Amino acid sequence: MSNGHQVETRNTAHFRHDYASEQPDLRRLYEQAKIDQWNAARDIDWSAPLDGDGGLIADDLVDLHGTRFWDGLSAADRIELNRRVTRWRLSTLVQGEHGAMLLCSQLVNCVEGQDAKLFQSTQVADEARHNEVLQRYIDLRLEGTTYPLGGNVKEIFDTLLGTSSWYLKTIGLQLVAETFAVSLFRMLAESSKDAVLRQVCRRILQDEARHMGFAMLSLPALVAEATEAEHREMEDFAVWALGRTLAGTFPLAVYQEIGMSRAELDELKQFRRERAAGGDETAFRKYFRRDLHDGLVRNLRKVGLITDRIAPSLQSFGLKLAA
Ligand SMILES: [Fe+2]
Ligand SMILES: [Fe+2]
Repeated sequence: MSNGHQVETRNTAHFRHDYASEQPDLRRLYEQAKIDQWNAARDIDWSAPLDGDGGLIADDLVDLHGTRFWDGLSAADRIELNRRVTRWRLSTLVQGEHGAMLLCSQLVNCVEGQDAKLFQSTQVADEARHNEVLQRYIDLRLEGTTYPLGGNVKEIFDTLLGTSSWYLKTIGLQLVAETFAVSLFRMLAESSKDAVLRQVCRRILQDEARHMGFAMLSLPALVAEATEAEHREMEDFAVWALGRTLAGTFPLAVYQEIGMSRAELDELKQFRRERAAGGDETAFRKYFRRDLHDGLVRNLRKVGLITDRIAPSLQSFGLKLAA
């Protein structure tokens, strides 16, 4: 059997008997999706040389940057570390794109609206292109090697694939994970050292913004009409998805690989926390965090999922809820 794992799923397919458009805003998003199709094989300049020192993302985004550990590394070791952290980040992204493709193929079945089904079918193709383009990039610059699937990416997608309700899947994917993806790809598109990586991220970003739009258009009416119990279920699911998504961004495997001890890792994590709390982060990190937090609060509010009941949980993730 090929390298992979199985997830048991139970989903209900809704087979429509009429195909007239009934949600003009979702229909517009579908029309936009058809216009915006791009081709990873043709639309990226794969031959662009790698300028600079051999690092791929901004050094700012390597967690060690700005610490005594970074100061103690040789120039060659810093470049090697930059490349490993890039490989770790792109591994989680290429795996997440595969998970998103599987999940959206379920959503084509589960959603009931005609326009929602058509839009979801375009998202399947979008996520396929994202998976393809990131693997092409990993092949080009990182000799094709990725870190094993694990941790939060696996947990998030296993859970979402095994959940039968379409709106919980959408809260997990299009509302939380893709709001995160939009901020991440925006930052990488702006800051990466490699022109090819910047191009790849710009292209993906354009699609992810549309996917986030699906949540914004399909959830508010449903949330507004939910019973109290359903509302609580959605709130709790959003908190779970936020917790998993926001916690999954530390490349522990890389730092273990370069031989950092447990005490050193604790020191690094403490440094990260203090830097974030003190607003003392480097420019790209600060920009990313503000962009991400603002986006999450705006989108959760827009769909109607910020309540007094879950406000403390959201604040514990660092989200500022003042209107
Ligand atoms: Fe994607
Ligand atoms: Fe997406």
